[in-house]
Amino acid sequence: IQPTLGQPLRVHGGLGSAHGKAILMGEHSVVYGAPAVALPLLDLQTAASVREANHGSISSDLYTGPLHAAPRELKPVVTALRATAERVGLNSDSFEIVISSTVPLERGLGSSAAVAAAMVRAVSNAVGVALTPEETFELVQIAENVAHGTSSGLDAHAVRSLSPVRFQSGQPTPVTVARSLTFVIADTGTSGSTSAAVNGVRMLRKVNPSFVNGIIDTLAGLAEDTITALGAGDAAALGQHMSAGHEQLARLGVSAPSLDALVTAARMSGAHGAKLTGSGLGGCVLALVDGADSADGVIDAMKAAGATQAWKTSLVSSQIADGVG
Ligand code: MEV
Repeated sequence: IQPTLGQPLRVHGGLGSAHGKAILMGEHSVVYGAPAVALPLLDLQTAASVREANHGSISSDLYTGPLHAAPRELKPVVTALRATAERVGLNSDSFEIVISSTVPLERGLGSSAAVAAAMVRAVSNAVGVALTPEETFELVQIAENVAHGTSSGLDAHAVRSLSPVRFQSGQPTPVTVARSLTFVIADTGTSGSTSAAVNGVRMLRKVNPSFVNGIIDTLAGLAEDTITALGAGDAAALGQHMSAGHEQLARLGVSAPSLDALVTAARMSGAHGAKLTGSGLGGCVLALVDGADSADGVIDAMKAAGATQAWKTSLVSSQIADGVG
């Protein structure tokens, strides 16, 4: 892009959006170069809009006020906002940004990356500067690295991809899905800190490298098996891989009694399989169910086991059409 310093802000078109994501396999192991698979959650959306103002300000569910006084929770987005403004030649104290989101915060569903991606798109659209996917990714990663410590980049890609995505060592590739699948997402009602979970695994790997590397290898194999099952439309196999993935994540120390209870409830009520999704220690469980009709029974069972909210979401095979953008 060619930043034009001093260019007046054009308010029209200053909108951006992004969606949530769920990790189907490979959270944590992806940090060490193993492949992971993420699903777009298109029913969870984040939108950002930009308009000219006398002072830089931000408005969201968490806080409304000047940029410089934004609370700690908004530091990732404010840091990325300032970097984006600089990249497109805007003064970050010359506009107001309004963010609204249905992606639950700190539940492993990609809210921090979705907010950052929507914001980057809104700011670049506001001045009519088209950022390349790589430039958008780099700006979203600024927020992710502030929020999470070192981030693999999986979330920054997943919140912009309309298809399921395989991600390894910085490289996203679309994944083929042979038939539509129905998942249930259930929220434990507790948040897990991504940086605490990632640091916990790193410490464990320092103390016991062969134990953790063995789990990483197993999760890498499960990610490839997951891609094969998606390509074959084999829900039973996919569910088994998900449950096996949960066991490995529990061995890594990133599960929690509340997550284990929801995984058990899903499996006992007829789900093909279930696992925690995202960094763990709290957050959500992803269960694969046998079509939309059986979702209600699984939702009821997961609520009885402590879920504060649970809903079904579909991965339709047409979502393979668009690539990673
Ligand atoms: C967090 O959504 C996914 C993790 O694998 C961290 C990362 O990939 O950076 C836990």
